[in-house]
Amino acid sequence: MKRVLVTGASGFIGGEVCRALSERGWQVRMALRTPRPGLPDHERVLVGEIGPQTDWTRALAGVTAVVHLAARVHVMREVAADPDAAFALVNVKGTECLARAAAWAGVQRFVYVSSIKVNGEATTGRPFTELDPPDPRDPYARSKAAAEQVLARVARGAALEHVIVRPPLVYGPGVGGNLGRLLRAIRLGLPLPLGAIRNRRSLVGVWNLADLLALCAEHPAAAGETFLAADESDLSTPQLLRLLAAGLGKPARLWPVPPRLLGWLGVAAGNRAAVERLCGSLQVSAEKARALLDWEPPVLPAEGLRRTAQAAEAVGAASGAPSQF
Ligand SMILES: NC(=O)c1ccc[n+]([C@@H]2O[C@H](COP(=O)([O-])OP(=O)(O)OC[C@H]3O[C@@H](n4cnc5c(N)ncnc54)[C@H](OP(=O)(O)O)[C@@H]3O)[C@@H](O)[C@H]2O)c1
Repeated sequence: MKRVLVTGASGFIGGEVCRALSERGWQVRMALRTPRPGLPDHERVLVGEIGPQTDWTRALAGVTAVVHLAARVHVMREVAADPDAAFALVNVKGTECLARAAAWAGVQRFVYVSSIKVNGEATTGRPFTELDPPDPRDPYARSKAAAEQVLARVARGAALEHVIVRPPLVYGPGVGGNLGRLLRAIRLGLPLPLGAIRNRRSLVGVWNLADLLALCAEHPAAAGETFLAADESDLSTPQLLRLLAAGLGKPARLWPVPPRLLGWLGVAAGNRAAVERLCGSLQVSAEKARALLDWEPPVLPAEGLRRTAQAAEAVGAASGAPSQF
């Protein structure tokens, strides 16, 4: 049976990726940093910290494909003295080390989960495509862009097919960050001053991203390509909040505060980037994946957001009252 190594298998996206690969007939091997209880019942291998020195020999034995999700992910409050170096250590040097080891071990396909932040932070008028020049704006995005390049370089010099997938914001059960905070606010019935925003944002449900990654692990036409991932349709911030509220069975209490005022408040509160993400547009075209791989995202945004909201509700209910948040 063909075997795939999944790094970052313990993360928010990893579990769904393991499930999608397993459904396609792959024997899944999860690469874990530390022993973790409560994970799905797949093969496990401990690899420790990912970086330039990681020993991948045991993890890669008998592996046909790698899906590389593990990364130092985007952080709201950075603590590293040199963020570029901290991101590069795991995301660039760690990816290079794994790619070289995979090539050496005779792995055929390496799927790298990058980020739309390689393209940039915002769009005006038309969505990003794979043809747009990279414009990474922060240390995380720069590390993802550099990792893409280093992977392409390693693959070129070896019999290793590489595929790069750049997702925008991923949602699903357990989502954190801004979206997790908005979900909590809706659960608490808090009014949100976001009703007047007229933007368009592409998101991707974790099920849809996992489906695309599993396809990229085996589709012949994916070799050597970069794909942007996105759901079937884009949403405005108010539409997103109304769908989450509907999933929670609560009203979305949206107040129509002018976005310009929100921008000023964001600057005053030292949270300008978060407000820009809520108010601005970031659209992604997944046309290439549709055309080349015949990919259709299996879960529509309304259904995916309903599942996300209901999972949050279940966790909230199990952990007591909304006061937990
Ligand atoms: N979530 C999004 O919206 C989004 C959007 C675009 C791209 N992505 C990309 O998707 C991938 C997965 O993201 P996620 O949202 O699932 O993140 P996550 O929930 O934070 O999971 C990160 C995973 O990477 C592992 N990891 C992190 N640093 C590591 C290190 N130094 N050594 C070994 N393992 C390490 C973590 O292991 P532990 O469990 O041991 O911590 C965990 O399994 C990342 O490459 C991220 O950049 C995510």
